[in-house]
Amino acid sequence: MIEDHDHKDHDHRATWWQRGVIYQIYPRSFQDSNGDGVGDLAGILARLDYLQWLGVDAVWISPVYPSPMADFGYDVSDYCNIDPLFGTMADFDALADAIHARSLKLIMDLVPNHTSDRHPWFNESRASRENPKRDWYVWRDAKRDGAPPNNWLSEFGGPAWTWDAHTQQYYYHAYLSAQPDLNWRNPDVRAAFDGILKFWFDRGVDGFRIDTVQHLFEDESLRDNPPNPDWRPGDAPTAALSRLYTTDRPELWPVLKHWRQLADIYQDRVLISEAYVPVDKLAPYYGDRGDAVHLPFNFHLIGCDWSAGPLADLIARYERMLPPHGWPNWVLGNHDRARIASRVGPAQAANAAMLLLTLRGTPTMYYGDELGMTNVAIPPDQVRDPWEKNVAGYGLGRDPVRTPMAWDTSANAGFSPGLPWLPVHADWKTRNVDAQRSDPASLLNLTRALLALRRRESALSIGGYDGIWAAGPVLCYVRQSGARRILVCLNLADRAAHVALPGRAIESVLLTTDGPPPFQPNSVSVPAISLSPNQGIVALLKDA
Ligand code: NOJ
Repeated sequence: MIEDHDHKDHDHRATWWQRGVIYQIYPRSFQDSNGDGVGDLAGILARLDYLQWLGVDAVWISPVYPSPMADFGYDVSDYCNIDPLFGTMADFDALADAIHARSLKLIMDLVPNHTSDRHPWFNESRASRENPKRDWYVWRDAKRDGAPPNNWLSEFGGPAWTWDAHTQQYYYHAYLSAQPDLNWRNPDVRAAFDGILKFWFDRGVDGFRIDTVQHLFEDESLRDNPPNPDWRPGDAPTAALSRLYTTDRPELWPVLKHWRQLADIYQDRVLISEAYVPVDKLAPYYGDRGDAVHLPFNFHLIGCDWSAGPLADLIARYERMLPPHGWPNWVLGNHDRARIASRVGPAQAANAAMLLLTLRGTPTMYYGDELGMTNVAIPPDQVRDPWEKNVAGYGLGRDPVRTPMAWDTSANAGFSPGLPWLPVHADWKTRNVDAQRSDPASLLNLTRALLALRRRESALSIGGYDGIWAAGPVLCYVRQSGARRILVCLNLADRAAHVALPGRAIESVLLTTDGPPPFQPNSVSVPAISLSPNQGIVALLKDA
C-alpha cells in the first residue's frame, strides 16, 4: 500500500480548473448545424444544454481557425479568425457568451509549433532567402550530396525536411510538409504569438490547450537523433529514432514561463500543455516555481496496462513526481488515441469513467466516451487522416476515434442532415444520448452521477489521498478532505472479487457502476466488500 501524506486536502480556494472537469469537443464531429456533414460552432451552441445537463465545467474545442485542413485544423493559416467551415467570428462570440452565461469555461487550442504552409508568414518566408520572414521558419542547406541536413523524421512519416526548389534550401517540419515548423528562436515569432494569446484572452477565452509544445525547439546544431532502443522491426518507421534532439529542449522552459506571465495578466486563465513525455519528464512543464503551465497533460492512463497493480503504481509515481505547486490532471482519451471503451473493452468502460472522475486532479473527458463510443472501422476509401494515409498499416490512423457524436435515432444519429464526414458508429440507434438519457443504468447516467458526486464532494474534487493500493484485481484508493474519506474500489477483472478493508469500515455506498451495492459482511471482524465482475464502487468511510 502506498500512503500519501504530502498531498492532503488542497486549499479550499481552489480555482475552477482545479475543481472542474474539462470536456473535449472535436468540432468537426460534435454537431453540424448547416448540413455540410461537418460539425460547427453553431452546432456546439445548440448542444450546450446537454453539456450543462451532463455537469462538466469547461469545454476545450480543437482548432477552429482558418485552415486548409491538411491536418484538420492543426495546420493554421490565420490564428485570429474562424474557418468558414466552422462559422464566423460572430458565431464564436455567440458561443463564448452562451458558454459563460451557463457559468462554463471555454478553452481554445493553440498551435504554436507550426503553421500551415499556406499561412501568409510561410508564403513570405519561402519567397526568397532575403525575405524578412525567412527566419520565421527553420531553413537549412542540403548536405553536399543534396541530402537533408540530418536524419530527423516527421511524426507523420518520411523525413522531417522538405526541399524548396525555388530557394534551394530545406525547411523543417515535425509533422506534415504542409505544417512547417516556426523558428521559436526568432523574437518576432514570439511577439506574434503574444499578440495571438492576447487577442483571444481579450475576447474572453478562459485558457489554451497548447499543441505539441515539446516540439517547439530543436537542437541548434542539428545533431542526428540516435536509434530508439525500444523500436522493434515491424513497429512504425516514424518511431525508429529517439526524439532526443527534436523534443523537450531546454529553450522551451522560458517560453512557457513567458506565456504564463501573459496569462497571469488576466484573471483566472489556464494553460494546458500537450506533450507526450514520460512521467519523470513532466515536472519541468510546471516551471521550477510553478511559473509555467498550470496543467501539463498527463496521458499516462492511455498507455498503462488495465490492471490494478500497474495502475496503482502509475498513480503513486505520478503523485511522487508532482512538484509541491503542481496540480495533477488525468486524460483517458482524445482525438489522437484509441477510444477508452475499445482499449479496455465495453465491460470496463464504466470503471474507466469512475477512475477518471475520482482520481486526484483535473479530468479531461473526450466527447462520446460518456456513451461508450468505440473505435469505428473506417473503410479504406473513406480514410481522411493524413497520418493513416502516409504511414498505412500500423493502426496509427485517428479517424476511428473522431466519428460523429450520436444524439438520437434521427438520420445520421442527429449529428447532421447531410452525409457525415466520417461514418457514424454501427450501434448508434441504441448508443446515443437520447437512448442513454432514458436508461437509468446507462454509462451516460453513471457519468452524470459521477460528475455530480465529484462536484458535491470536496474529497473527490480537491481532496488528497489516504492510500492507493491493488487488492488482487481490484484497484483501491481513498480520497480525503478533512474528516471525510471516500473509498473507491474498481474490480478490473471479469470475475468476482473480495477486498478486505482492515481499519476502514464503510458508512454508506455512494455510487456503483452497476447492480446492487456491494455486500459488506458485518459478521467478521475485518471489514470487507465483495464486488461483482467488472464492478466499481464509491463509498463513504466511517470516521477512523
Ligand atoms: C497534436 C494534435 O493533437 C494532433 O491532432 C496533431 O495532428 C498534431 N499535434 C500536430 O499538430
